Amino acid sequence: MAMVSPRRLVQNHPDRASVTPSNSIEVRFLRPGDVEALITLEQAKWDQDQAADRAELEARIQAYPRLSIGAFETGGAALASLFMKPITTEELDSAATWADCARVETPHPKATGSLFGISLSSVDADAVTAIFEFFWPYALKHGWRDIYLGSPMPGLQAWRRTNPDIPADVYMRERRHSLPRDPQLRYYHNKGFKEIVACKPGYFPHAASLDHGAVLRGHIPLSAGAPLWRLVPLPWLKQMRRLLFRLVQAA
Ligand SMILES: CC(C)(COP(=O)(O)OP(=O)(O)OC[C@H]1O[C@@H](n2cnc3c(N)ncnc32)[C@H](O)[C@@H]1OP(=O)(O)O)[C@@H](O)C(=O)NCCC(=O)NCCS
Repeated sequence: MAMVSPRRLVQNHPDRASVTPSNSIEVRFLRPGDVEALITLEQAKWDQDQAADRAELEARIQAYPRLSIGAFETGGAALASLFMKPITTEELDSAATWADCARVETPHPKATGSLFGISLSSVDADAVTAIFEFFWPYALKHGWRDIYLGSPMPGLQAWRRTNPDIPADVYMRERRHSLPRDPQLRYYHNKGFKEIVACKPGYFPHAASLDHGAVLRGHIPLSAGAPLWRLVPLPWLKQMRRLLFRLVQAA
């Protein structure tokens, strides 16, 4: 997978809730004023029936300000965004669709160490890496233990043509050279989302996936030490951010 190139290494700024790599990608928690730039990114990466609109973006940022992260270039254009929310395993298990999981709720469930990745959008692979590196220290500090997400399986439609009678979850679990066969599941596997939880038909509108979603789970590295991390100052955790990202990939 793409790693952060030397010119884009994220610099450490222990006292600010943002990081600015040397070639000026800024990674930080999102604010309502970012919505215009985020809409441009949504429209670039999602079909019209998939893209979040202004109201949805604003609602996510307002409800989960410490779980909504963006990477921006110098001129202000959004390069990548990651929206998450807290979720319980009961909610996740009972949800039939992505919309069930992604719904913005206030107040949200308190008794959970799990997050749901509402959406990831990107036009710059280094910006995604920088977003995950930015988030891991906050995740440890807060005590988040894992992140679930619903991924498209864009190779399913073509596979079905040659395997019309085989269930989609066989495709979802298929591997080549010990990696997921599907390109997007492979992408998430390389980002640390290695556990395949469920195959959900009618999950979201996505033609190439035949509307199927794969529910994936990624573990937050070192989160088993949650009580300890709460005592460690955030700047110390930030020093570890690159190590944490490497641990996720290696796990
Ligand atoms: C998925 C996404 C976030 C990845 O962004 P990124 O980190 O900037 O990475 P890239 O788009 O450069 O893709 C990285 C690799 O994964 C592969 N990949 C990722 N998603 C893929 C997909 N849907 N179909 C085919 N290949 C895919 C790419 O082909 C690429 O492979 P390469 O390195 O061999 O060229 C971005 O493509 C995106 O915003 N897609 C639309 C929205 C989406 O599907 N979001 C995720 C679901 S919540």
